[in-house]
Amino acid sequence: MNSIRVYDSAVARLTRRELLKIAGTAGLAVIARPVVSAQTMARPLFRSYPFTLGVASGDPMPDGVVLWTRLAPEPLEGGGMPMSNVEVVWEIAADSRFSKVAQRGTAIARPELGHSVHVEATGLEPARDYWYRFRAGDEVSQTGRTRTAPAAGATVDRLRFGVCGCSHYESGYFSGYRRIAEEHFDFVFHTGDYIYEGRADGGRNPSLVRQHRGHELYSVVDYRNRYAQYKSDPDLMAAHASAPFIVTYDDHEVDNDYAGDQDENGTPSEVFALRRAAAYQAYYETMPLRRASLPAGSSLRLYRRLQFGSLMDFSVLDTRQYRSKQACGGGSKPACPEALDPNRTILGTEQEKWLFENLGSVRSTWTVMGQQVPTFGRDLRQFDPAGRFAMDKWDGYIASRNRLYERLKETRAPNPIVLSGDVHQHFGSDLKLDFSRPDSETIGAEFTNTSISAGGDGTDVSASYERSMPDNPHIKYHSARRGYIACTATPAAMRADFKIFDRVSVPNQPAKTGGSLVVEPGRPGAGSI
Ligand SMILES: [Fe+2]
Repeated sequence: MNSIRVYDSAVARLTRRELLKIAGTAGLAVIARPVVSAQTMARPLFRSYPFTLGVASGDPMPDGVVLWTRLAPEPLEGGGMPMSNVEVVWEIAADSRFSKVAQRGTAIARPELGHSVHVEATGLEPARDYWYRFRAGDEVSQTGRTRTAPAAGATVDRLRFGVCGCSHYESGYFSGYRRIAEEHFDFVFHTGDYIYEGRADGGRNPSLVRQHRGHELYSVVDYRNRYAQYKSDPDLMAAHASAPFIVTYDDHEVDNDYAGDQDENGTPSEVFALRRAAAYQAYYETMPLRRASLPAGSSLRLYRRLQFGSLMDFSVLDTRQYRSKQACGGGSKPACPEALDPNRTILGTEQEKWLFENLGSVRSTWTVMGQQVPTFGRDLRQFDPAGRFAMDKWDGYIASRNRLYERLKETRAPNPIVLSGDVHQHFGSDLKLDFSRPDSETIGAEFTNTSISAGGDGTDVSASYERSMPDNPHIKYHSARRGYIACTATPAAMRADFKIFDRVSVPNQPAKTGGSLVVEPGRPGAGSI
């Protein structure tokens, strides 16, 4: 680290051109100008643009929002930053030209966190648009637009938010993110599978439109580079710059179908914990999360509660980190008694207790639970007349689901709406106390988003859905196309417009509304419009 200081003083009299030349021959992406301390560069000089991953904001509150960026002049090669702290100036303004700056400050981008920056801006006004940007040395980031949440208890006429997830880089282009950017949502909820951890396909599958770089992800640098490859996509960058994101992860941010401390290959849990720690660190580094989510070892506190005036109470859940291993060996299984075991859990004891307490104190019109895998029952009936269920979803954790639905009924949490993803198909479903009985009580509705790109172009209707349709009368909408959901919440209705694309094998496609569902307060269940 002292070498930075020495180097800095040695080059103090050189021109910028000379500095760049030295940097080139030395293989450095950044060279220091004056330093404020032995550890921190106040005005770094970059050989190439450091804001290659764009900007993002997240978790809006009435008086503040998280602002994010990460310095990465060489985004696909670990970042290309020196192993020093670097000062990053941030500002947030009431106008896009920054003539009315509301807050300004300096954050430190640290090598321990991949030179990411998480600013928790406060002192803002509720329910209004803001614009933000960063500066490091002479370089200025893109400008992002964000929006604060309405004041606690305030009457809110309307909130519009997007729901998206499962963006597999190789499988398709991110038209969904591009169209989301144009929606100027109040916020976007991401249901996870932001990246996929698999190795580069290497041309084996001819239907893939582009290639991952590298092997399967294990180390922090592996995950960092994969996030950087995804974040370099201009459509994804535009989506983040358009609205604050509320994020949760699913399995592919770590390893396919992992469950708690178990990966899919039976790796010893103490060994898998090392991989999970690397993955969680890179996730935190990449997402606009508050400091409360800074990982500690292989743990990351992701479940949290946000509120939007008197209109919406939003609990973000984590159904990966604390769950029991999938029942009956995972996959899709007919009659699996283990799925009914009350000792198995998908939320874990602490999170379940936290959520159940929240549900007892909701005073908003809508009780929203945003999470990863579908809670609604989906009898796949594939090749099996007795029924068949996906063990990775809440269908494999029936006791957990029963406890949640019973708690919703017990607390009378107003108008429950579940948001989920993971299955690469759109679904709109009623929530039934017993999904095997059509006359069972309906206690809410669930909107499940399809993928942004995972699975490739897709079809209007999946074969499995077609076969199983008669056995799932609670499902009110389905599409196996790619897309996202545009939700509109008002005091009178919660509406989901299911956006779909004909193709993701071609970039920049127009979105169509494949169908819409509406839920009215006091009338649980989704109706078509
Ligand atoms: Fe996925």
